[in-house]
Amino acid sequence: MSASLSDSRVGVWLIGARGSVATTVIAGCAAVTAGLHAPTGMVTETDLFADCGLPALSSLVFGGHDTVGCPLPKRAETLVAGGVLPHGLPSAIAAELEAADEEIRPGGPVPGDTRDQADLVDAFATDIRDFVRRRGLTRAVVVNVASTEPAAVGTDQPPSSLYAAAALRAGCPYVNFTPSTGLHHPALVALAESSGLPYAGRDGKTGQTLLRSVLGPMFAQRALAVRAWSGTNLLGGGDGAALADPAAAAAKSAGKERVLADTLGAAPEGETHIDDVPSLGDWKTAWDHIAFDGFLGTRMILQTTWQGCDSALAAPLVLDLARLATRAHEAGLTGPLSELGFYFKDPMGEGPSALGEQYAALAGLAGHLRGLAGEGR
Ligand SMILES: NC(=O)c1ccc[n+]([C@@H]2O[C@H](COP(=O)([O-])OP(=O)(O)OC[C@H]3O[C@@H](n4cnc5c(N)ncnc54)[C@H](O)[C@@H]3O)[C@@H](O)[C@H]2O)c1
Repeated sequence: MSASLSDSRVGVWLIGARGSVATTVIAGCAAVTAGLHAPTGMVTETDLFADCGLPALSSLVFGGHDTVGCPLPKRAETLVAGGVLPHGLPSAIAAELEAADEEIRPGGPVPGDTRDQADLVDAFATDIRDFVRRRGLTRAVVVNVASTEPAAVGTDQPPSSLYAAAALRAGCPYVNFTPSTGLHHPALVALAESSGLPYAGRDGKTGQTLLRSVLGPMFAQRALAVRAWSGTNLLGGGDGAALADPAAAAAKSAGKERVLADTLGAAPEGETHIDDVPSLGDWKTAWDHIAFDGFLGTRMILQTTWQGCDSALAAPLVLDLARLATRAHEAGLTGPLSELGFYFKDPMGEGPSALGEQYAALAGLAGHLRGLAGEGR
């Protein structure tokens, strides 16, 4: 299924490379490649993407930046203890974890950092270029899976934007899996447009918002009047701790609410809250309460409860996006990859917000890539 146009090796440079999502991506790729687990949740492993020239999972080489030093094998064991990764997996794929660990470089800024913003972009871009050269890679994609930042204020670029600028500088496609600013900073918009690189984001759509992008269109298509849509998320882990900061949580909630405004035609009454509950670890409970009117004004309620393991939901999507962005780069596609809106809460570029229409757009991209692969491109 994973036929590549060439036997070349492709880099996946993860910002936040020692986090839960990144560790699950690296461990998951090794486990699927070794045939230890099925690629459940990977859309790029379905028939939709047959013969599209995507890089094989076995061709992906991982590296990245992080500001903490916890070795990946240790991080993977922590995820086993938390029930995220299966028992025995870290020892079965020890070589792959070690290899990725050796390719992780110190990120920034760290407390007391004396480097200015230009120095940091230089250092990050050099690390990425060195990775590509050292490992003999045909190309590499930079994927942001670092802790969520508060929305940027003023002209200073937040770390996510410095990494995004470094990706452009290194000539790499860029994917922002988080709600952080990344390429959305005013200083980078024109630079991204003129870079000739493909990019996508932002904020992976893995749980509550995935459900909203299905249910919102359902209410609209059945002409049912949604009066209020309220939601609460309980989660722990590093993401829960980062989102305990109200400014970071606001960045996340904005994406969750946007899909409702887009699919219902107007933002309904109600808010979305995110609570840090450390003892839940990576396991999230998302509850939605939807008040709507039926025929003759009859009042009704739909409630949904989503209980998911965040990193297990996110990792297959990150692998999909890494393969799609590198294939898009190889195929010469540039600018925002709006066909990847299927994967995001707050998609870049023009595109639909309903999941069904987003899947159709993704299928259109698959058809285009298949056509190019048929021509040997
Ligand atoms: N279902 C999901 O899991 C899901 C869905 C959508 C988005 N996300 C986003 O993915 C991101 C990662 O989530 P996680 O659960 O892995 O979090 P995590 O806390 O486990 O990992 C984040 C990592 O980023 C690192 N980091 C922080 N600042 C950095 C910097 N300046 N440079 C380099 N690295 C830095 C941290 O040290 C940590 O290792 C979050 O922003 C989250 O909102 C996750």
